[in-house]
Amino acid sequence: MRSFILWLIITGVLATLISCGKEREGDDTISIAVSQAMSTDDWRQQMNRSMKVEASLRPEVHLEIIDAKNSVEKQVQDIESFIAKKVDVIIVSPIQSKPLTAVVEKSIRAGIPVLVVDRKIEGENYTAYLGADNVEIGRTAAKYIVSNLRGSGNLIEITGATGSSPAYERSLGFNQVVRANSHVHILHTIAGNWEKESVKEPLTKLLRANPNIEYIFAHNDRMALSAWETAKTLGLEDKIKFIGVDGLNTPNGGIELVKDGMLQATILYPSGGNEAIRLAQRIHNKEAISKNNILNTILIDHFNAEIIENQMDKVDEQQSVIESQQGAIKVQEQEYASQGNLLRLLSLFLVIIFSLALYSVYSTVSISRKKRQLETINHTVVSQKEEIEQMAEIARLSNDAKLNFFTGLSHEFKTPITLIISYVESLIDEDKIKGTKLAHELKLIHNNSNRLLRLINQLLDFRKIEEHKFSIRATETDLCQFSRDMMGNFTGEAKRRNIDFTLDCPSGKLDAFIDRNLMDKVYFNLLSNAFKFTPDHGTIAISIYEESDNVALRFKDSGIGIPQEEIASVFTAFFKASNNQKNSSGIGLHLSKEFIELHKGTIEVIAGAGAEFIIKLPKGHHHFNENEVGLQSEDDYKVAGYILDSQTYDIAEKLPAANNENYSLLIIEDNTDLLNFLKNKLSTEYTVTTSDGSDALEKALETVPDIIICDVNLAGKDGFEISKQLKKDLRTSHIPIIILTALGNEESMIKGLQSGIDQYLTKPFSLPIVKQSLSNLLYNREKLRYYYTNNIYKVEPETKFGFPEQEFITKMNGIIFNNMDNSDFSVEELAENLKVSRVQLYRKVKAILGMSISDHINNIRLERAAELLKTNDFTISEIAYTVGFSSPNYFSTAFKHKFGYSPKEYKSKL
Ligand code: FRU
Repeated sequence: MRSFILWLIITGVLATLISCGKEREGDDTISIAVSQAMSTDDWRQQMNRSMKVEASLRPEVHLEIIDAKNSVEKQVQDIESFIAKKVDVIIVSPIQSKPLTAVVEKSIRAGIPVLVVDRKIEGENYTAYLGADNVEIGRTAAKYIVSNLRGSGNLIEITGATGSSPAYERSLGFNQVVRANSHVHILHTIAGNWEKESVKEPLTKLLRANPNIEYIFAHNDRMALSAWETAKTLGLEDKIKFIGVDGLNTPNGGIELVKDGMLQATILYPSGGNEAIRLAQRIHNKEAISKNNILNTILIDHFNAEIIENQMDKVDEQQSVIESQQGAIKVQEQEYASQGNLLRLLSLFLVIIFSLALYSVYSTVSISRKKRQLETINHTVVSQKEEIEQMAEIARLSNDAKLNFFTGLSHEFKTPITLIISYVESLIDEDKIKGTKLAHELKLIHNNSNRLLRLINQLLDFRKIEEHKFSIRATETDLCQFSRDMMGNFTGEAKRRNIDFTLDCPSGKLDAFIDRNLMDKVYFNLLSNAFKFTPDHGTIAISIYEESDNVALRFKDSGIGIPQEEIASVFTAFFKASNNQKNSSGIGLHLSKEFIELHKGTIEVIAGAGAEFIIKLPKGHHHFNENEVGLQSEDDYKVAGYILDSQTYDIAEKLPAANNENYSLLIIEDNTDLLNFLKNKLSTEYTVTTSDGSDALEKALETVPDIIICDVNLAGKDGFEISKQLKKDLRTSHIPIIILTALGNEESMIKGLQSGIDQYLTKPFSLPIVKQSLSNLLYNREKLRYYYTNNIYKVEPETKFGFPEQEFITKMNGIIFNNMDNSDFSVEELAENLKVSRVQLYRKVKAILGMSISDHINNIRLERAAELLKTNDFTISEIAYTVGFSSPNYFSTAFKHKFGYSPKEYKSKL
């Protein structure tokens, strides 16, 4: 667009130049300015006309005639304006000589040449003069009179205006000649002013006084006519002869007056208009010219009036022809000019159209070029974008890989730490070392291990938060009691360091919906920070209070506090306050804020003396969705594996003692240390077999243990997969499995539970909890066993209990029923039918029902016998054979052993 405007400007300039080209021709023009004394009389009008005609013949001449209206002042002003306009040549016909002299001289000084015509100025300071010889005119008139007067005679002279040179010069010439002739007398000189009115009154008076006048010489024809008219009024017009000057060929002009006999003669006084223009041009062209240019004059009387008139008519005619031709030329010029303008306009349009066409071609080319450039740029941008995306993807993958590596590593840390903690715990529990220095040091190891564990858990939490994998499970909790419980972890330290550690809970009880595990971490973080930065003898206070729709928790300490200018960054990950000289991971507060936000609550920090954190949690549970609100048992959060500093022992003490029967236990774990630790700790109560995972299934099938503890991340095998296969296999499906893993997230738990495991324990685990879990599961198994042994004949569908062993029992019992009367029916036959080995059948039945398979078969036979005894249809011997006993005696013994009565006694009791 900008270039288009530029193009238009160039076009405009070109067009202007074209039009200016025309104008520049004006550089050769001559501007001629004429100051005309007046334009009221014919003589002046003729002068103007002849100037115009002459100028019109010269296209280069630009003529301007200004009428001074017989005012000397105006004439001076007019000439001043010519000077100001810097015209090329000034032509002046002065009204009077003296008053015009200065302005003419000024023009000469200004470098503008002045041509004086007709009347003169004073002095010689003008460029040139053009006019007839007025002295000679006076003489001619006088000579004519003298030669025409026979004898003496009286004359009257009527002069032009005083102060104008023709009046003075004509009078001078006239008087010179008259005075030379003694018989001729100028009786009187009337001072006229070139106009008729100046004559009448003085001449009337004079003629009345002196009627004997022969000649009257007036300085122009107008005044001569006026003299004739005056004489006529006195009846003297034929007696007196009149002579005038000018000799105009116009109505009432000198020639006509001569022809009409009113004037005896007139002296031609040529206006010199044509000559003046020619002379002005020559002056402008710096040609050599005479200073005084005298026009010819002639006396016209009745002898030559006719001829001169004819000549003048011809001249006038020619002048008229010229004028009309000039008019026609002018019209054509105008037409030419307007056509020229039209042409110029058309040319301009043409140039514009051409320019636009050029511009549009240029635009099309440049647009397509730009388009190509843009396409190239676009292509580059797209490929760069793809490159960046690829790089970002690589970076993301690498970042993920790194994060996964560190997350995996953190998980891996858990097992050895668990081991350390567990070993330390069991060492602390040794009676021998209680109260010794070693016990104190072990507690230190224990505390620091827990600290390390906490840091690892924080790292894992951080990763989980980043991946938005945290879900909340809020349960209604008394915050006062919860706080008291949490404070229990720190009371020892508070006491040791003389820190005034208080809880202000005015209402005594204040319920809120919290996820205890998450809130536990928040408390732990805020309190451990408070203890970290509060000096000995300081104060740490927790206040719990209601605030409109919220429950507020205030943690205030008298520690070093947080600098005001850093308040805004406190909850940013990896932030470390400038006044914090201690080791800090910088993620504790960040996690706390995230956890509080999962609760739809807020946490803020207030600067000042010491740090002050205020948590606000909305009351009720309507801010959570259905899945986020749940029933959480008091122990849930403790069992989930978040071990706190000094709490490990308490848990051990709180749990009921395990029921230590000598059950068989298979531990599947590829960490040898952990495996050995568990084996050591559990072999006193269980018959332990171990597997590193590679032969887990074989070991399970071989030993058919009473219970299994299985790790998840095993070398080459997945603990979930092992569990799934064991649970699918009839031979092992009854065995309770505890999964022990570092994977504490919800998906893993769900995956584990889906694979049919019975309990999910996360690392780090607490040995007492493991022990208790083993006891509980075995106890439940006992309960089930009791149920089965007492409901042998109730063949319920599998779904009724949701327990896969039901199917096994149903199938097994069915086979036994079908072989009820077959005394040769053996355990081997049954195992074969069930597609298990004899030993596996034995162990499975023993595990499920708590008895040997042969006892179970016998039981079924005897239960059936008891049933048959009730019917009264068979003898005891018949019944013995029907239920598969080969000897009635052995039947009776076995029956008495089971029911306490012999079959006979049993029947009579019925
Ligand atoms: C015209 C006129 C003439 C005369 C001349 C003298 O205005 O009066 O009649 O000859 O001026 O300047």
